[in-house]
Amino acid sequence: MDDITALILEDHHAFRVGFARLDDAKTDEELRAIWEPLWLHLDIHADAEEEILYPHLLTDAGGDDAEEETDDAIGDHNKIRDGIKEANGFPVGTDGWWKGVWKARTENSDHLREEEDEVLPDFRRHATPELRHELAVKWLVFFGEHPQGRGLSFKDKDPDQYIADHT
Ligand SMILES: [Fe+2]
Ligand SMILES: [Fe+2]
Repeated sequence: MDDITALILEDHHAFRVGFARLDDAKTDEELRAIWEPLWLHLDIHADAEEEILYPHLLTDAGGDDAEEETDDAIGDHNKIRDGIKEANGFPVGTDGWWKGVWKARTENSDHLREEEDEVLPDFRRHATPELRHELAVKWLVFFGEHPQGRGLSFKDKDPDQYIADHT
């Protein structure tokens, strides 16, 4: 039976692998072939967490630090989105592109640590097995409904407003 925390960890692993592959790419074509699915996956993943995981962390499956953790997460997602947008404003392989990619990469690394060491442990301690499964199904449906990110804006969100809207 699928569990949303396992699906999230699988994505996190894919992000680490994707960024590492950029290190080995030899041509702009290779960089583009790695970067395009990677940035789309990063943006869709952040939207999926904001739609499916964090609303529950804030209500029925979080601990005392849920609001602070959510505030950090939305802020981190914004920084990752900003790095991606910055990179995509330049041709692949140029200095400007690498600068944006590095921002997305380093912000993402910091964020994965916080989710894996703070958010997911709290969620696992408070969510029922049924909820973990139910959200796993929603997660898979979300990705199916937004192929290549279709229908998603990837816009930054105000953390305070997000928390107010979900509590
Ligand atoms: Fe995540
Ligand atoms: Fe996240």
